[in-house]
Amino acid sequence: MTIECATASSSERKATSRAGSNIAFIKYWGVADAGEDLNIPLNNSISMTLADAHTTTTVAWDHSARLPTDTVVIDGVQLKRAPAQRIVAHLDRLRALAGVPYKARVVSNNNFPMASGIASSASGFAALTVAGAAALGLQLDATRLSALARQGSGSASRSLFGGFVEWERGWGEGESEEERRENESSVLLDTRSVARQIHDEEHWALRDIIAIVSAAAKRVSSSGGHRLAATSPFNAARTHSVGDWLKTVRRAIAARDISLLGPVLEADALAMHAVMMTSSPSLLYWQPGTLEVLHAVCAWREAGVPVYFTIDAGPNVHLICEAETAAEVEDRLHSLPAVRRVLTSGPGPGPQLLAGHLF
Ligand code: DP6
Repeated sequence: MTIECATASSSERKATSRAGSNIAFIKYWGVADAGEDLNIPLNNSISMTLADAHTTTTVAWDHSARLPTDTVVIDGVQLKRAPAQRIVAHLDRLRALAGVPYKARVVSNNNFPMASGIASSASGFAALTVAGAAALGLQLDATRLSALARQGSGSASRSLFGGFVEWERGWGEGESEEERRENESSVLLDTRSVARQIHDEEHWALRDIIAIVSAAAKRVSSSGGHRLAATSPFNAARTHSVGDWLKTVRRAIAARDISLLGPVLEADALAMHAVMMTSSPSLLYWQPGTLEVLHAVCAWREAGVPVYFTIDAGPNVHLICEAETAAEVEDRLHSLPAVRRVLTSGPGPGPQLLAGHLF
C-alpha cells in the first residue's frame, strides 16, 4: 500500500489525514535502545487497528517563514512549549527528511475522549506522519511511514496499516555498535523495525469493548514506562514467553479462533502488568474498578460468554470478543457499578488522506 500524496499540491502545502488507534494483543513494553529515542521494542507486537477510535490531523507548512514557531492544537487546546515538544521533535524529523526549515501549524482532533484507555499517541502520530509527509510532497510508502511514525510513538508504527498488524522488532539483537553507526545517517527511514499487515479489516469481525473505570490522567506515561521495563526481574521471563505467544496469536487470528486468542492475550496483558508492577519504581496502573471488571469477565466466561480482557498502560479494561457477542458484553458491562462508560470498536482501515482540512 502506498499513501498517495496527490492532495498536497505544491502551492497548498497542507494535508489532512485520519488514522485509527489500535489495541495490542501482544504488547509492546520496553525498549531496546534506552536513551536513543528510536523506539526499538524488546519484542514483536500484534494489534488490531480500530475503526471507531481515530485521530484527524491537518498539517500546514509555512513557506512564507512568517510563523516563528510550530503551533499545535489538540482537541481545541493549544499546547504549551513542553507538552508540544514531542510533536515538534517529530516535525523536526519531517523537516530533516525534506531538507526544509519551515515551521508548521498542526491541528488534531480525536473522536474519543482522552484518558479513555485508547492510545491517542498511536493514532495521533500515525496521522501526523501521514499528513506532515504528504504536505511536504514526500513520496513515502506505508512501510517507510511506519518507520517514521515509530520514532514519534512506538505503537503508531502499527496504525500505519489497517486490520491485523504485526510490528517486527527488526533490529538484530547481536548488531554491533559499528553496524549501528553505519545505519545512523539513514536512521529516519531505516525500515528494519516496522509494522506490516497480516490480515485486512474484513478478515475477522472482532470487537474491542472498552470499559472506562477511571478518567484520571496517568501518573507515568508509556514513554517513561518503556525505559523502566528492564529494571523488573520479570522482564526477561515475559520477553522469553512472548515468542510462543506470538505464534499462537498469529494462528488464532488466521483461523478466527477466539478461544485460542483469548487466553494468550490475557496472559500477555497480565505479564506486562507484572513487569510494570515490579519495575523500579513500581508502576501500578490498576484501580479497584479494573479488578472488578477482570473478575466479572472471568465469571461471564465461566457462564459461557466467550469474552477476554487486555489492559494497556492505564486502569481501563479492553474486552475482546466476536461481533455476535458484543451486545451481550456491553449490557453486562453497563450493570457493573465501577464502569462509567463503554466504547466499542471493530477493526478499521489504515490511514487515509482527506480532501477536507481542519482549518
Ligand atoms: C501498553 O506506543 O504509547 O499500549 O512509544 O513511548 O509512545 P511510546 O509508547 P506507546 O506504548 C504503548 C504501550 C501499550 C502496549 C501496546 O500498545 O503495544
